[in-house]
Amino acid sequence: MKVDVLLGLQWGDEGKGKIVDVLSSQYDIICRFQGGPNAGHTIECKGQKFILHTIPSGILNANTLNIIGNGVVIDPFILQKEIHMLAEKAGIEVMDNLLISKRSHLILPTHRLLDAVQEASKGEGKIGSTLKGIGPAYTDRTARHGIRSGEVLHKGFMDKYNDLKRSHLQIINTYKIDLQNITIDGYTFSAYEELWLASLDTFKKLKQIDVEFFIQEQLKADKRVLAEGAQGTLLDIDFGAYPFVTSSNTIAAGVCTGLGIPPSLVGEIYGIAKAYATRVGNGPFPTELLDETGNKLRKNGHEFGSTTGRPRRCGWLDLPALRYAIMLNGVTRLIVTKTDVLNDFETIQVCTNYERDGQWIDYLPFDYSHVTPKFRTHQGWNCNLNGISQAEKLPQALQNYLQMIEHETGVPIYMVSTGPDRNQIIALRN
Ligand code: IMP
Repeated sequence: MKVDVLLGLQWGDEGKGKIVDVLSSQYDIICRFQGGPNAGHTIECKGQKFILHTIPSGILNANTLNIIGNGVVIDPFILQKEIHMLAEKAGIEVMDNLLISKRSHLILPTHRLLDAVQEASKGEGKIGSTLKGIGPAYTDRTARHGIRSGEVLHKGFMDKYNDLKRSHLQIINTYKIDLQNITIDGYTFSAYEELWLASLDTFKKLKQIDVEFFIQEQLKADKRVLAEGAQGTLLDIDFGAYPFVTSSNTIAAGVCTGLGIPPSLVGEIYGIAKAYATRVGNGPFPTELLDETGNKLRKNGHEFGSTTGRPRRCGWLDLPALRYAIMLNGVTRLIVTKTDVLNDFETIQVCTNYERDGQWIDYLPFDYSHVTPKFRTHQGWNCNLNGISQAEKLPQALQNYLQMIEHETGVPIYMVSTGPDRNQIIALRN
């Protein structure tokens, strides 16, 4: 058995949570391998909406084991809130089917402060971070003074915590910002720290594992494992439009380092793309629409961040960017989501290539902040997709649109999503 991978091909928010939830019945184990609570995976199930930030999207399926891998950064307080939300809304007791890697790193309250002051100091050049402390936590991991989840159980944990906190506060003080003016999710620093420290009681009760041994043993025992990506390929620390990126490897290669498996154990790569494009935060977005059409996409698609509530920037599907993402990940199965958002468009535009310095290019270049997108017009389908459950019943214009994407990317579309609910999904291939 191999680990299949599911990840986003755009700037995040492609609807990965719903697809993982749909596919989870085919898998025994779902793992997060990178990122942290900057993610917001939305799942709608039996009329209820769940937003997961740290816990893998298989948690709503009672038979699925969920693993938070070593490549993830965890805020124990946010995790505790998620655990309570699942218990209250759906009676889900996560202790039974959630495992965390001892090697995953902790996001401390002072990481949140660092994120806030560092973003504020960037002024116009700010990244548009979710301010969940992701960048500072990964910085400490790489600089070799972070704290791993496994260390919470060690006797010297509080000493290590206080040492790291002290060194963070020294840095924060250089920004000459009054800490009283900064809040963390609406709390003062000391109130947040108190809640964070209290949440460690719950955190200590979670089952911690050596994920690198565990997954390989499970594969040998014929268990089916899916790795669930967070954010999107175009936010990758290496291949995104740096510095407007997140701090982890969001691409398929991140699965190996984020779970401790060799490349030879990676199987299918499911790539998820919306039928159009969105981005939250700053940075280049060639097909962005700053007009009424962009507003309509935002309204139809409820394009507001599930972690921050920020309005998402909206635009047309960008084929050079999609091809780039497919190439980096080696996508074997494409899944197109949110097609219903385009239901009431007479025509739909698709970016086929760019003009840069008077030249035509059909790939995503190193710096794409000044490219001009060239669009091709497609006929819209102009009808509601409710109640359609078979591929051949989809309107012809939508079938043509999907065939065009397959033709342009060279990858077969495996499924298409036609609405937010679990059952609004149509298989195009087995
Ligand atoms: P950070 O990872 O929170 O520091 O944010 C860095 C960039 O990635 C910002 O542009 C964020 O808006 C974006 N980002 C982070 N997480 C997500 C996500 O889950 N979906 C979409 N964008 C994200």
